[in-house]
Amino acid sequence: MSTATLTTTQQFGTVRKQGAIGLAESVRKQSAERLNQVLVDTMTLRDLYKKHHWQVSGPDFYQLHLLFDKHFTEQSELVDTLAERIQALGGIALAMAADVAETTKIPRPPKDREHPTVQMERLLDAHRIILEEARAFAKQAGEAGDEGTNDLLISDVVRTNEAQAWFVNEHIVS
Ligand SMILES: [Fe+2]
Repeated sequence: MSTATLTTTQQFGTVRKQGAIGLAESVRKQSAERLNQVLVDTMTLRDLYKKHHWQVSGPDFYQLHLLFDKHFTEQSELVDTLAERIQALGGIALAMAADVAETTKIPRPPKDREHPTVQMERLLDAHRIILEEARAFAKQAGEAGDEGTNDLLISDVVRTNEAQAWFVNEHIVS
């Protein structure tokens, strides 16, 4: 395949014409941009769950090992839902680790193996970051008339993150 004659088909930050869904370009562009933030933060939390699934230790090893993997799987489903919503709006979903790393708001964890309590506090911090931005973006999307994005953020992202934060929190609150 010759690359000389091939160019990109869409520039990042733009939205394609998508007349069929009946939302203005400006609304779709704003939703795509905000959904990309939730997407990269969700990818980071997904990976944080897998890191902790592998590295957890202590008397609760078995149940935390299983719980973290369950949450990893649920976050993976959210990643696909978010990415495909961005594409449906005419945008471009961020996909690669380097792009995720430079865009996420979730602090980078050390490569070290952390104590289970620290792991869980780190997970709860990440849930809080995602929940705060998802609620704010959902409100803005609804006000702009993008109820599909509003619904995805509330019904999928907020509800899943609230439930997961509950399960993690119950392990460290006595
Ligand atoms: Fe595993």
